[in-house]
Amino acid sequence: MGALPYLKFAGPVLDEATIAGVGDVLRSGHLASGPWVRRFEDSLSGFCGGRPVRVLTSATAAVEVALQLAEIGPGDEVITCAQSFFTVLNMIVKAGATPVFVDCDLVTRNLDLDAVEAAITPRTRAIMPTHWPGSLPDLDRLYELARARKLRVIEDAALVMGSQWKGRNVGAIGDLVTFSFHPNKNITSIEGGALVVNDAAEAARVESLRFHGIVYLPDRTRDVAFPGGKFNLPDVNARIGHAQLLQLPTFLTTRRALAERYFERFATDPACVLPPRPQPGDGQSWNMWSVLLPLDRLGIDRRQFRDALEARGIGTGVSYEALHLSTLGRRYGGKEGLFPNAERISRETVTLPLHAAMTASDVDRVASAAADVIAAAHA
Ligand SMILES: Cc1ncc(COP(=O)(O)O)c(C=O)c1O
Repeated sequence: MGALPYLKFAGPVLDEATIAGVGDVLRSGHLASGPWVRRFEDSLSGFCGGRPVRVLTSATAAVEVALQLAEIGPGDEVITCAQSFFTVLNMIVKAGATPVFVDCDLVTRNLDLDAVEAAITPRTRAIMPTHWPGSLPDLDRLYELARARKLRVIEDAALVMGSQWKGRNVGAIGDLVTFSFHPNKNITSIEGGALVVNDAAEAARVESLRFHGIVYLPDRTRDVAFPGGKFNLPDVNARIGHAQLLQLPTFLTTRRALAERYFERFATDPACVLPPRPQPGDGQSWNMWSVLLPLDRLGIDRRQFRDALEARGIGTGVSYEALHLSTLGRRYGGKEGLFPNAERISRETVTLPLHAAMTASDVDRVASAAADVIAAAHA
């Protein structure tokens, strides 16, 4: 029997029609932002319950622009979760604001709303949660809290395109919401991201912030009143993103079935901590499936576990390193022991392969390999 093909831990499904569509755009003469950007934004707006959506070159750019839109800067505090991707820490710091970390739930990994409430000070301007596949924080409570204290909310929804809160898509409710279209996400535009805003005035401001800060004057000249960035999405990327959005329901169904298979098949001894199990009709999406390894009882460390899977042709990831323990996070008071759940996740988490090109037998292969490696390490 030949070696099995390498199984990536994440990646996109791009069909031939999408690839052909890219050729059409290249021949159309619109290489920068053009009609496909508007079409993609219209479709995204439909997905987000009619709210205005603007696309940018990444979710990181979307978070940067969201912070500028909310006029958050020096002297302001932004409450965010210690268990998230570097984007949130980096962009808060780049805005000149101070990141204030809170811990998360060990299983759902969503930020702890009691801790958010306790962290609010007179300088707090915004709450920035990162949503996790498999469950959302209580968005009713989050927005009640924000409204009562007049705080902005910037939802980092990079991992949860297609998750629903009480039957409505993430993005269709709330304040500012950001999505990522990186190739590892639920849909891709290769690189790309989106920012959901509240009204036409905010949308116009985003258009300016993503394109040099330019405003157009009646005499057909331009002016700049604040330093904008250069984050406009090219039409080729918008064409891909538009095609991918149409396929999102299929991708979500496949991902959900694969996650369910992981829950059926994932039995290791000693046991791993698993994500929250999906319930029928719970409206959750599955961008990734990450477990916590029982490292305290194994004879190997996480690096060795990942290397052993890699040697079997199975890719893995780490989602994520604790932000407060990064060199940058430590400049804002981060140190060991402050956020036990985020720190344990950071030490023990492994992201296993999950993407819409996989089959149930791929999941079986990963589950068997993980169980073998853990059994051998424990023997
Ligand atoms: C949770 C989270 N937020 C934000 C981002 C940033 O996305 P992008 O690569 O589109 O900037 C990522 C990317 O991996 C992410 O995982």
